[in-house]
Amino acid sequence: MALRKLANSDLNQDGAVDDTSSGSPVVARGTSELPRPVLASSERSRDPYVEVRGLSHVFYARDDTPTPTLLDFDLQIGRGEFIAIVGPSGCGKTTLLNVASGLLVPSAGTVLIDGEPVSGIQQKVGYMPARDALLPWRTAEGNVEYALEIKRMGDRQAVARDMLRRVGLAGYERRYIGELSQGMRQRVAIARTFATAPQILLMDEPFSALDAQTRAQMHELFMQMWENDRKAVILVTHDVSEAITLADRVIVLSPRPGTIRLDLAIELARPRRARELYHQEQFRQYLAQLWDALGYDTPDAKDLSASHS
Ligand SMILES: Nc1ncnc2c1ncn2[C@@H]1O[C@H](COP(=O)(O)OP(=O)(O)OP(=O)(O)O)[C@@H](O)[C@H]1O
Ligand SMILES: [Mg+2]
Repeated sequence: MALRKLANSDLNQDGAVDDTSSGSPVVARGTSELPRPVLASSERSRDPYVEVRGLSHVFYARDDTPTPTLLDFDLQIGRGEFIAIVGPSGCGKTTLLNVASGLLVPSAGTVLIDGEPVSGIQQKVGYMPARDALLPWRTAEGNVEYALEIKRMGDRQAVARDMLRRVGLAGYERRYIGELSQGMRQRVAIARTFATAPQILLMDEPFSALDAQTRAQMHELFMQMWENDRKAVILVTHDVSEAITLADRVIVLSPRPGTIRLDLAIELARPRRARELYHQEQFRQYLAQLWDALGYDTPDAKDLSASHS
């Protein structure tokens, strides 16, 4: 079966891909053995937890030059579903998260979370922005408490301490951010994100500043925390391997203005261990599909193992 671009019109009533609809081929190479891309399950399409409807956004420069960033963008995410978004720099990924978190009002369209249109800061959203964005004048504990303060939640010190313990930072509660390693800061950021018990996590390249080894540790820590209490996640990343390792679905966006090029279901059993996944043929097939949709050549196997050794 040839792979092709997917659009909402490709969905039949059950949310499965409709083979009779037309679409342009995405992948030219070795597609015959590749797994079929699957769109939303029937449950997801009937009762999505997050629904992005007809979202478009145009930024205007000081001289009024328009930058169309997202164009008539639709996306549905089920309860507890983990999706990753990859796409070229500047295509609108951060813009999408900013709209979903209520920080940015879009030019057109809407985002619904649990049926309610997003407007303003959302209690049910946990946003982990690019880089850790921690407050250097606060301690580790103070940074976790800060998220609780913003959302006017109580029991702040007890919750912060418990979260720091869960990410392996017991004993570091009173350290200032400047006294922590990059990996420790990332743990504080993860603790802060989970502290408010969000119903949906929005994560913008949360692991990109980390070295490969710390990143793999953070993936495992994050997955353990997520597996406990599965919430919907939108993870933006430039790391295609990370997207496959963590997500249930990987969405590939086109260059700006971003539209969906490929919506690929990742059917790898959980719990997943990154170092075992890299040896699986299925993992490599997903990697090939995603790189093809992004428009780059698949990295050689030797490059892949080098980047994860
Ligand atoms: N506040 C802003 N004012 C004007 N233009 C903006 C603003 N924020 C983003 N843009 C423009 O919108 C486009 C999309 O930006 P966005 O940050 O969403 O991209 P991205 O996909 O997250 O890119 P990256 O992968 O590099 O983080 C870019 O062309 C950017 O220059
Ligand atoms: Mg960005």
